[in-house]
Amino acid sequence: MAEISLPPRRRSGARRWTLGLLSVTGVVTLLLAGGFTWLYVDANRSSVDELSFGNPLRIPPLLEPTVDEQGRKRFQLTMRTGRAEFLPGVGTPTWGVNGDYLGPTLRASRGDQVAVDVVNELPERSTLHWHGMRLPARMDGGPHQLIEPGATWSPHWTVDQPAATLWYHPHLHGRTAEHVYRGVSGLFLLDDQESGQLALPDRYGEDDIPLILQDKSFAADGSLDVTTNPLFGTTFGSLGDRILVNGTYDPYLEVRTSAVRLRVLNASNARSFAVGFADGRSFQLIGTDGGLLDAPLALDRVRLSPGERVEIVVRFTPGEQVVLRSFAPGMAGGFPTDRFAGADDVIDLMKIVAADRLEDSPAIPERLAGTPEITAPPGATVRTFRMQGDSRINSLPMDLRRVDQVVPAGATEVWEVHNGGLAHSFHIHEVAFRILDIDGTPPPAYARARKDTVYLPPGSTVRLAVQFGSHTDPAHPYMFHCHILEHEDNGMMGQFVIVEPGTEHGVARELPDEGHPHGHR
Ligand code: C2O
Ligand code: CU
Ligand code: CU
Repeated sequence: MAEISLPPRRRSGARRWTLGLLSVTGVVTLLLAGGFTWLYVDANRSSVDELSFGNPLRIPPLLEPTVDEQGRKRFQLTMRTGRAEFLPGVGTPTWGVNGDYLGPTLRASRGDQVAVDVVNELPERSTLHWHGMRLPARMDGGPHQLIEPGATWSPHWTVDQPAATLWYHPHLHGRTAEHVYRGVSGLFLLDDQESGQLALPDRYGEDDIPLILQDKSFAADGSLDVTTNPLFGTTFGSLGDRILVNGTYDPYLEVRTSAVRLRVLNASNARSFAVGFADGRSFQLIGTDGGLLDAPLALDRVRLSPGERVEIVVRFTPGEQVVLRSFAPGMAGGFPTDRFAGADDVIDLMKIVAADRLEDSPAIPERLAGTPEITAPPGATVRTFRMQGDSRINSLPMDLRRVDQVVPAGATEVWEVHNGGLAHSFHIHEVAFRILDIDGTPPPAYARARKDTVYLPPGSTVRLAVQFGSHTDPAHPYMFHCHILEHEDNGMMGQFVIVEPGTEHGVARELPDEGHPHGHR
């Protein structure tokens, strides 16, 4: 009897179990789908027409150098803690350079000998790197040039590169994201003879305006939220929902000339911007990371991934107001990762208010200074890099003791960078490069100029013609890395040395241990 009654019972038990499982699966699926939809919708950080543009845009002061006994222009920088009020009535603990938040603008000309005394008054060790500068590796301010709390580091070099908009920021391995996020960054402008003769707006703070773009998230107590995303960790880096321009939240800028040059730096940890104007007006692109273009290029939007710079010239009519906006940067990663990487976000940056009477600016010259062409000779060395996940290049995490590449001085090489699944921003120290192609196609016109940082769309291969300088030093490396700072800190970075041609094979691939806390072994 039991044997007869068992099967039905078993069946009904199994059916109940199956039904139960199905409904559990159904509920879980619904929850997951609902959760995903919520996450997906929530990940859109667009904010348009929400600002009141009530705060005058802060302009970082130009730092006056002294002239030392060696005839060098000598700058004094002190990294320190501070406090700022970004949001109305809310105090925010910050870090800055010679001030509470961000640092002054340094300026020098080609041929100048410069020296900087960098004093570290922060509560921990840091470094200060000159992004885009061609200089000896010991002066580069990368992760090996540690400045202990209370110590002073005094690099010096001769400026020998075309006029450009460069910047400086800490580079402490494993801690760069946080140091930059807290506010240690500034601009370093370079001039040269050709750029000085062009009829371009060049009165700093009047018709030549720096715009340092950063997204931030603030914790409930007003502090900068330096924690990574609880769900995605460092996958997409830190994306904030509030924009600071030059450390000003909700800013406006009053202009008094009919043309204004904007030097735009993306100093965000991870966010890309596509900068344009809310009314769709076009502007002239005149420069990128490494210097001026050959000729101005009319555009209505320009994309900047972290670390990139552009110089644009915009025209205004008396009395008008226009919003500078970041349109969806569309990072070509597809659904759904684009959304989580900020690619769909449309964000107001600031308002520009033209005075009722504008001083007439000269027309922008049809030919600009340009920069020397960078071409890889036939048979140039080709090096291959694979950007993997959010922490590896060529299967390895950064190791401060490992020299990954040895490059002969003065070489122009082809660096072929393959990108896996995520958006990255690839930067090489010391060099200037031109983008040869992206997935075999020449880059858009605006990306053909001299650069040091390039956006890598997910799944793409970008080939660069990379021109190296002539400062040799087999014992001190330069860095190449992703400029999404959370990725860089994770170890998405490698090292190269520049050596006397012909000595490559004798170079030690292992550097002495300097006792870094974040040395990855
Ligand atoms: Cu902006 Cu390795 O630097
Ligand atoms: Cu750099
Ligand atoms: Cu990256």
